[in-house]
Order: sequence, then structure tokens, then C-alpha cells
Amino acid sequence: MTSLIYGCMRIGGSWDGTPPDDDTRRAAFAALDAAWEAGYRIFDHADIYCAGNSERVFGEWLAAHPGLRSEMLLQSKCGIRLGDPVMYDFSRDHILSSVDGILERLGVERLDSLLLHRPDPLVEPEEVAAAFDELERTGKVAAFGVSNHSAMQIELLQRTLDQRLSANQMEVSLAHPDLITTGVAVNQREPDYPQRAADTVEYCRLHDITLQAWSPLAHGRYSGAGDKNAGDTNAEDNAATRMVADLARERGVSREAVVLAWIMRHPARIVPVVGSTNPERIVAAAQAGDVLISREEWYGLLQAARGSGMP
Ligand SMILES: NC(=O)c1ccc[n+]([C@@H]2O[C@H](COP(=O)([O-])OP(=O)(O)OC[C@H]3O[C@@H](n4cnc5c(N)ncnc54)[C@H](OP(=O)(O)O)[C@@H]3O)[C@@H](O)[C@H]2O)c1
Repeated sequence: MTSLIYGCMRIGGSWDGTPPDDDTRRAAFAALDAAWEAGYRIFDHADIYCAGNSERVFGEWLAAHPGLRSEMLLQSKCGIRLGDPVMYDFSRDHILSSVDGILERLGVERLDSLLLHRPDPLVEPEEVAAAFDELERTGKVAAFGVSNHSAMQIELLQRTLDQRLSANQMEVSLAHPDLITTGVAVNQREPDYPQRAADTVEYCRLHDITLQAWSPLAHGRYSGAGDKNAGDTNAEDNAATRMVADLARERGVSREAVVLAWIMRHPARIVPVVGSTNPERIVAAAQAGDVLISREEWYGLLQAARGSGMP
């Protein structure tokens, strides 16, 4: 299954640098076992997740299953420096040392894909190019991409790079459809259609850049988490949650599958990065590839979640 990615952000326990304890390790192994069994073969990391512990625990799991490495794709990200202050850093030296740390924690010799995590306003494309050349030459990274980048930010980097940027990971969900709805906003005055990342979907489609969707379950907002706080949810949430539940019942699939299928219905073939650590939810999400959402259902869900109709 390559239609979903398993996101490892939450498997490492705390973000304060405390080494993972046995409970964290057990929970992470259970999540990764479930993901593997359900057919996830692409695993998403970042050097900062749980201060490196997500990659560390994953590395331990992989060491316990060494035969699996050749059957999976490993992606990680760099470019954010945690600390005081938090900084973004796309300098050559930071990218190179980050990749060395990632490889060491994962216990592998090569990353299948490296993404630049969030746009660094101080980026010098020549620095990125020097780092990518070195990573390609040494065989440490096979493919390159970005995350949270607009079309023009990608264009700026790409002009200087010899390597093709092949992925852009963005937040996309029913709760955060901005990447998609920004295209609807052209020539509209409605303030609730954000103009952020204008034309990024079109740019990625034109240049065969795979869009990956982070936080695709919207933390369960329409697939169960909202139910627990029914009093807190608003009318839009309730309408969208009911619609998701109805569709799931009709199709005989999980609510997670419906929420993800909404993203996957987009013709850009957006790939959700599922971040649940709950084995049942991980398996439930994997049904998404079997659900085809109609145009009517797609627009119905979008308008229910936004709480307003199309212009
Ligand atoms: N590029 C970026 O800037 C960026 C930013 C954030 C994330 N990411 C990537 O995207 C992946 C996914 O992100 P995410 O974890 O934020 O997104 P997500 O998959 O939308 O949400 C997962 C979170 O929602 C909770 N959840 C889901 N359904 C629930 C339900 N029915 N009831 C209660 N809780 C529920 C999960 O809890 P359980 O664990 O209990 O299921 C988990 O905490 C990450 O692992 C990471 O790889 C990338």
C-alpha cells in the first residue's frame, strides 16, 4: 500500500529529551507492528520528533525486524532547530549534520527521501544545493523534497538544485482544507477563503511533485474524538461528523477511512500521513484506499466542515 504513509511523530514519547521508557517502547512497537501488518510501507519522520526519540524507537523496532528495511521507504525531515529561540536552518552544514543524526538514530545507511521541514526565510539556495549534492554523492539520500512550501518557494529552490524536488508535505484535512480551497478563492472577496499557498496544488501537479497531507485525521475531529467532547463541538463539526458517520455506515468502512478518502479523492493524488498511535485506528485508516467518494459527497463534506456553501 503506497496510498498512505505512516507518520511517526508521536511514537517517541516526550519532547523534553527524556529517553524512551519501556511503556513508550511497547506502545511504539505495537503501533509500528499494526502499521506494517495493515500494509503501510512508507514511514515519515523528522529529526525533531520527540527530540529524536521517534527515530530512535523506530530504529530499535527496525533492528528487531532487519528484513523489513528493503521493503519500506524511509522519509525524514530537517531544517528546524529546537532550542531557545527555535530557528529554521537550511545551511549546508546544518542539513548535513542533521542527516548524519537521522541515519544514526534510525540505524540505516540511506534515507529514501529527505524533506526540508518548514521554509527558512534566511535560505540561501546555493547552501541547500551544496548539501543535496553531497548527500547524493555519498549515497546518504536518494530523493529530495520539501514540506510546508508554496509554489514560489519551491521554484526558488529548484532553480539552483540539480536534484528534482519530488514531494511537498502540507497540512490537509477536512478541518484544514486551505491548500485546496485557496483555488476557489480566486476573484472572491470572502475573507474565509484563505489565499495562503495560492496555486501550490496546481504547481505540484504541473511538476509531478507528490503532495503529502499531514494531520489528515484532523486529530479525530470528525471521526470520533469530537464525540467525546460533544458539548464543545460547533454546528459545523456536528454536521460534518454526522455526514462522515453516515457515509462510513453506508460503505461499511471506518470513519477514519471516509475522512482520508475525502483527501484522496482530490485528483492531485494527495497521500495522507496518518499519525495515530492507536493500533485499531491505524488499521481502520488503512481502509481508506477502498473508499471512493463521489463528487457530490466530496462537496457535501467540504461545505459541512466549512459551515458555508460554495461562492
Ligand atoms: N510536515 C509537517 O510540518 C508536519 C506537521 C505535523 C505532522 N506531520 C506528520 O504528519 C503525521 C500525522 O500528524 P498528526 O499525528 O498530527 O495527524 P492525525 O493523523 O490527523 O492525528 C493523529 C492524532 O489524532 C488522534 N486521534 C485521531 N483519531 C482520534 C479519535 N477518534 N479519538 C481520539 N484521538 C484521535 C491520535 O490519537 P491516537 O494516537 O490515540 O490515535 C493522534 O494523537 C505525523 O506523524 C508526522 O509524520 C508533519
